[in-house]
Amino acid sequence: MCGIVAYVGQQSCASLLVEGLRKLEYRGYDSAGLAILDKASGETVLGVVRAVGKLAKLDEALREKPLSGTVGIGHTRWATHGRPSEANAHPHLVGDVAVVHNGILENHLELRAELTAMGRKFSSETDTEIAAHLIDLELSRGASSLLAAVRGALGRVRGAYAIAVVCRKEPDVVVVAKSFSPLVVGVGEGETFAASDVPALLAHTRDVIFLEDGDLCELRATGVKIERMIALGDGSPTSAATRVVPVERKPRRIDWSPAQAEKQGYKHFMLKEIHEQPTAIENTLRGRVLLEEGDVNGAEIGLTEAQARAIKRVVLVACGTSHHATIAGRNWIESIARVPASVELASELRYRDAILGEGDLVIAVSQSGETADTLAAVREARRRGALVLAIANVVGSAIPRASDAALYTHAGPEIGVASTKCFTTQLAALLMAAIWLGRRRETLEPARALELLKRLVEVPTAMRETLEQADAVAKVARRQIVSTDARDCLFLGRGLSYPIALEGALKLKEISYVHAEGYAAGEMKHGPIALIDAQMPIVVVAPDDSHYEKIASNVQEVRARDGRVIAVVRKGDSLIGSIAQDVLVVPFVHQELTPFVTVLPLQLLSYYAADFKGTDVDQPRNLAKTVTVE
Ligand code: M6R
Repeated sequence: MCGIVAYVGQQSCASLLVEGLRKLEYRGYDSAGLAILDKASGETVLGVVRAVGKLAKLDEALREKPLSGTVGIGHTRWATHGRPSEANAHPHLVGDVAVVHNGILENHLELRAELTAMGRKFSSETDTEIAAHLIDLELSRGASSLLAAVRGALGRVRGAYAIAVVCRKEPDVVVVAKSFSPLVVGVGEGETFAASDVPALLAHTRDVIFLEDGDLCELRATGVKIERMIALGDGSPTSAATRVVPVERKPRRIDWSPAQAEKQGYKHFMLKEIHEQPTAIENTLRGRVLLEEGDVNGAEIGLTEAQARAIKRVVLVACGTSHHATIAGRNWIESIARVPASVELASELRYRDAILGEGDLVIAVSQSGETADTLAAVREARRRGALVLAIANVVGSAIPRASDAALYTHAGPEIGVASTKCFTTQLAALLMAAIWLGRRRETLEPARALELLKRLVEVPTAMRETLEQADAVAKVARRQIVSTDARDCLFLGRGLSYPIALEGALKLKEISYVHAEGYAAGEMKHGPIALIDAQMPIVVVAPDDSHYEKIASNVQEVRARDGRVIAVVRKGDSLIGSIAQDVLVVPFVHQELTPFVTVLPLQLLSYYAADFKGTDVDQPRNLAKTVTVE
């Protein structure tokens, strides 16, 4: 998730673009850069300045090499392909063309090979540079305008993008386009803007056009021309001929305050991030799930086929929410790849004199990629000869760097301290790793792999449907937790719902300060049942899976002791649904995939409980987003 801005008008735009990027810095700050067209000397000059790190570094670089001109583009990067470095920073310059991009081009490897074979040289590891080459290629082949060249180039790419392009030969124009990644156009008096998000525009205009997927626009100081690409490219050399129709999109007047706008109208980052989950999963699956082959793209995992076959045991290591994701991951690895697997808390593993070595695959899971205990466990595992695969969200962070291979979640920056979208994208990465291992080790039938992958790509739709019930969950939070001033809460689940019970309890603790315990439902009789009385809400995660009947008995046992049950059940459930005081409903999904939907009402339950109690949802007391001390 990167931030892009663009300007075409009468003002000298360098500082205006940097100020726009400052409003988008929450989207990433690995590096930043500007490209500006300057016509002052008669001949147009395309100046580019880039710097690694936060915007302050770009400010410094611009003091050393100032840019002037009234047409330009800017970018703040959250790395996905290629480490944070100046060479990988945007804008990418090829010939007379400069490009900034937010998104992931799925077929970048194929296109890079094709362009390399044509003699083209690359100066970065990014997928974006491919787009810059394709546009330059279209121009060299006689495209009639920059707009036509961008249209032709986009016909060759598959994936997600919001891009902005300038070209020295058309100094009064910025071309922008959108597919899956967000992009808004700002309409001013004698000036036109574009940005990834509204806050970057609010200082200049409140009249914005929210672009739709397939929109391609030519921005000039006098206004915007929009066309819609009907058939987006499938990546093949013949797909560049995209049919277009002109479209008219009316600007909308925005009346959000700047703070509201940064959260896209949501009250807190956590709530925004909860609602971003379907898109975050789509981004994490993009380019990795190969439906035609019923497989996962091994190039993205980074291990060799021989390494996959040589593994004797998998040890999953993490902390906090990431640890909960590893419990589901362990179940998938055992059931799909049929390798013995265990989970370890990083803080325990690192000091336990554990037996680790050759034949072991350690999978280290971390949102930040910087958690001190997980990093130490990774180093210890490698010292003892184990192979380490990192699953991390922050590209180039310490844990992937210290590992043999890295599979990145593409959740985008997570600002709320309580992890939400990173948890579900970790689940997606772990499931893909299990499927990839299962196929390599021939423990997973191709037909079952295909079925799982098909159902996995449908998960974002089921998540969207689940999130539509946010208001109903808010009412349950008020009725069962806030109005009753609940002090303690029990979360129960079995199988893949057990880590979800743990995660639901952790979320409630960390942001609403209600004491909560997550338990394997089968363990209830071994202790926690003594706590049950009419005061205690008990959240039971009971989707439609092979544990359903057993968990239904647990619910009966709770009700027999006057416990107040909030049940997460499948839509249409009539058994548990009829005995629970409240139900939080999720749509039907494949039984291996229930965690993706059952966790959502629990995240919302905690969010609303905390919000109604008035706690600091995004920065709960005593907690830090990244725990770099042990
Ligand atoms: O960055 P990591 O995933 O390694 O962080 C691990 C934990 O610190 C983190 O999940 C923590 O438990 C969150 N606050 C949970 O919401």
